[in-house]
Amino acid sequence: MQYNSQDRTFDTKPTLTDTQVLEFCKQGYIILDGVVPKEINEKVCKYLAGKVSPNPSNIPSHLTLEMLKSTLDSNSPEPNIILLEDWFINEVLLNSDLAGILRSLLGKNVGLPVLVSNHTAECPGPAQSWHHDADSLFGPEVNYLETFYYPQDTPIEMGPTDVVPGSHIGLNKFHHQADELSTATVASAGSFVLHSQSIYHRRGRATGTGTRNMLKFNYWRTTSPTRDWIKQPEFDFETAEYGGHFAARYYAHMFYWLCGKEKDFKLIGGQGWPWNKPNQIAPSYGYNAEDGYKPDWSRVHEGCPCGSHSVNSGYTKC
Ligand SMILES: [Fe+2]
Repeated sequence: MQYNSQDRTFDTKPTLTDTQVLEFCKQGYIILDGVVPKEINEKVCKYLAGKVSPNPSNIPSHLTLEMLKSTLDSNSPEPNIILLEDWFINEVLLNSDLAGILRSLLGKNVGLPVLVSNHTAECPGPAQSWHHDADSLFGPEVNYLETFYYPQDTPIEMGPTDVVPGSHIGLNKFHHQADELSTATVASAGSFVLHSQSIYHRRGRATGTGTRNMLKFNYWRTTSPTRDWIKQPEFDFETAEYGGHFAARYYAHMFYWLCGKEKDFKLIGGQGWPWNKPNQIAPSYGYNAEDGYKPDWSRVHEGCPCGSHSVNSGYTKC
């Protein structure tokens, strides 16, 4: 692990294989259960409760120590001072299990978070409405990844975040069947839920009692995408399983973008590649087509029932 404290980036060995990177493209999230040590999880909870003296490793020139300390006030949703604590950087932000995955999906010199949100919830409580977060963008790019960090055991009673696997592409079928398709990110203390910021989600219903802490922060890409994770010699782009009707083209597009092969991604439609069935008698037509189409990522999100924002309409692809 190399950490550059000047530009706040790190580099390490990627740990995901081709199959696992494609699986992330299809699911939109990865759970790392219980990878942060118990004493650090407890320190985080005490720190957020104001029971540990803040000692930031530096004070950014546009801020003061008092301004940073005020981010721990009970009415502050963003306790950003914790991002400047050496122990938090080393034991949480640079956790080796998490770092290997981030390096696989975001390339060399991953940028550390500049903002952290504390999603504290008092339990019991009802479920939130299903939604895509504000400012979600739907496209093949993986320029940043959002991470939930649970410093406490978060069983189903404490309302862990519910996610709809695969819904980060914004396809309407995930919106209409969210209750049926969703899964709760139940996790033990010291877990990370790494995910596409665009995934359809909600805070789950909590029937337990007490305070649930959850920190949310983003890691950032600083280099162009390329296939520099663990290559599997047997991995075959032509016959890989990219997903089902309508969705496969989006997951495949994302995988090609991550490989640095986006310009080679062309669709001929129908039962052509990337669609394939294990029992078909020969590979799908259309693989490596010279002419074809790109998926329309803005169209896929039309009619989303979350209603809180318009997605992609505020963006024009350059
Ligand atoms: Fe949300």
